[in-house]
Amino acid sequence: MNAQQDKNIMEYETVALDDADSALVVLDQTKLPTTAELIRLHTAQEIRDAIYLLKVRGAPAIGVAAAFGIYLLAKGIDAEDYDTFYRKFRAYKDYLNSARPTAVNLSWALNRMERVCEDNRALPVAEIKQRLKETAVAMKEEDIRVCRAIGEHGLTLVKPGDGILTHCNAGQLAACRYGTATAPIYLGQERGYHFHVFADETRPLLQGARLTAYELLAAGVDVTLICDNMCASVMRNGQINAVFVGCDRVAANGDVANKIGTSVVATVAKRYNVPFYVCAPTSTIDRDTPTGADIEIEQRPAHEVTDMWYEKPMAPAGVKVFNPAFDVTDSDLITGIVTEYGVMRAPYTEAFKELFRSRQSL
Ligand code: MRU
Repeated sequence: MNAQQDKNIMEYETVALDDADSALVVLDQTKLPTTAELIRLHTAQEIRDAIYLLKVRGAPAIGVAAAFGIYLLAKGIDAEDYDTFYRKFRAYKDYLNSARPTAVNLSWALNRMERVCEDNRALPVAEIKQRLKETAVAMKEEDIRVCRAIGEHGLTLVKPGDGILTHCNAGQLAACRYGTATAPIYLGQERGYHFHVFADETRPLLQGARLTAYELLAAGVDVTLICDNMCASVMRNGQINAVFVGCDRVAANGDVANKIGTSVVATVAKRYNVPFYVCAPTSTIDRDTPTGADIEIEQRPAHEVTDMWYEKPMAPAGVKVFNPAFDVTDSDLITGIVTEYGVMRAPYTEAFKELFRSRQSL
């Protein structure tokens, strides 16, 4: 089944709780763009595997999936007393949290769910489970509001007709709606901005080709797919007015971890004076991580580079492969970090301190 022949991909929910409150339903992103398949996840292993195997991926979507996932697992815990319930909850939490290390939204979401347990420990376990559900549902709704706000702030940085380059997929498929890096693009589309978007294919897992190009095309955006090594060419030709990317973790000093290759785009953008913007919900800002050097970078299996997506292996058997999933972009390459509260500018340490001081509730 071609997803486009069925219904528009923009009408699918990336992450949802099913109506019977019994399964986490995710759109399997490993099958896109050819097949749109919703998969139902019940067990801890199914949920962790779906995150590790990138069936659900992108920092915000991982966070919401983890929140629904831990709720479902908590719901199934057969214990009346808080201590037994909490011990089992913690085991599930640690297990899900081990799926991927770089995107802070995974631990951020699980920590928030754990706080629901701790803050309500005096309540009956059944009531705690209900609060967990309410929190997970609220996190999904928040994600949509936050992404839309990022879109509004991002839109102030560009003008109609601009060329925009993006890397990886920080789109609707990586979140619950709008995406982060794509939010200004979608809002601009609604308002007749006629952007020309260039999507890096994003080796090795092709999130740009399979997902970003696909969802933008489905939304009617003028999108052109380019190989990762073409970004210098389009910038030098003057086709790009701004770069928007998402991110997996922002360190306290403004260094940013995002999909491998992002730092190349940022370096090239600096060379050609193209503003480079990182779109980041405040949930992705990790004040406990001082600099980019302190961010754990996920290493992925070799076959993703040598075999995956090819009909036949495209590398000699046994060759050594280095496959980090993310890289760090130094803060001095970043023109601005677009959050739901506005555009942060360097020096980021001070900008974040001020942001979190003025938003005590964050
Ligand atoms: O490995 P992935 O596909 O989960 O990597 C995704 C990215 O790097 C995104 O840019 C990031 O998570 C931001 S998504 C809004």
